[in-house]
Amino acid sequence: MEVVETVADLRAWRRTIEGTVGLVPTMGYLHDGHLALVRRAAAENDQVAVSVFVNPAQFGPEDDLARYPRDPERDLTLLRDGGAELAFLPSVAEMYPSGFSSWIEVEGLTERLEGAARPGHFRGMATVVARLFGLAKPARAYFGQKDAQQVAVVRRMVADLCLPLDIVAVPTVRDDDGLALSSRNVYLSEGDRHSALALSRGLFRARALHCAGERDAGRLRHAVEEMLAADPNVVPEYVSLADAADFVELTVVDRPAVLLVAARVGATRLIDNVPLGGESTSD
Ligand code: PAJ
Repeated sequence: MEVVETVADLRAWRRTIEGTVGLVPTMGYLHDGHLALVRRAAAENDQVAVSVFVNPAQFGPEDDLARYPRDPERDLTLLRDGGAELAFLPSVAEMYPSGFSSWIEVEGLTERLEGAARPGHFRGMATVVARLFGLAKPARAYFGQKDAQQVAVVRRMVADLCLPLDIVAVPTVRDDDGLALSSRNVYLSEGDRHSALALSRGLFRARALHCAGERDAGRLRHAVEEMLAADPNVVPEYVSLADAADFVELTVVDRPAVLLVAARVGATRLIDNVPLGGESTSD
């Protein structure tokens, strides 16, 4: 596996590649969720490039940029074993050189849910992802369903700007007890870790109701809210049942939808979701 830290070296690597490149953008502190993306990319492309970059532009002033977990050496070992051909670990100056002044605003979709909770987050995310697409020139880029709204924003950007690649969404990888893997889980105390199960349990409960025929969005949301309310260590931010493409809130589940939750567990903000209807209800 080649490890490069500069834009110039990434471009030089890309020039040597004749087949297809699958790109997996990450912020590092890798876990099995990230590695599922790498495996999928390896199965569908000639070469896999993984970026590890904690992107300051997508963190707000209240966010956890300074204490975001990092372990590049461990990440490189996992990527080597995971089958990546290239790891790109740029500095902030490489990704935002002086004079950098172009930003991508995806309107509408980014004003809801995560966009409302974290102003500027999707602008920073879309911009860095577009820059990575420009550099790595992937045939496909891989994103986790765990960040469902992020996938929708990236798909919207790719369609609107006619970017020449496909976006592949990979089902959420979970621990055996249901907790969605996240780099941020490292912040959870043992008690928090237990409380955090309320998110996936609530979502699974609602998904079971949906499978049994429930289509009323209010009742499905309520099934999640009840589970969250049962634990005082869980402070819900939103429970949403939204159209899977534009994330507009639904009253009736009559199209592919996503049931999403954001909550604080102790001091840690967690998100999770399950798709309802549409193709991928398997996670
Ligand atoms: P990060 O949080 O590191 O996640 C990188 C990718 O891994 C994202 O596509 C995310 O959805 C996916 N992922 C995380 N946990 C997952 C899980 N449990 N199962 C499946 N996939 C999972 O998301 C970002 O970084 C950044 O916003 C980024 C896209 C890299 C832009 O900076």
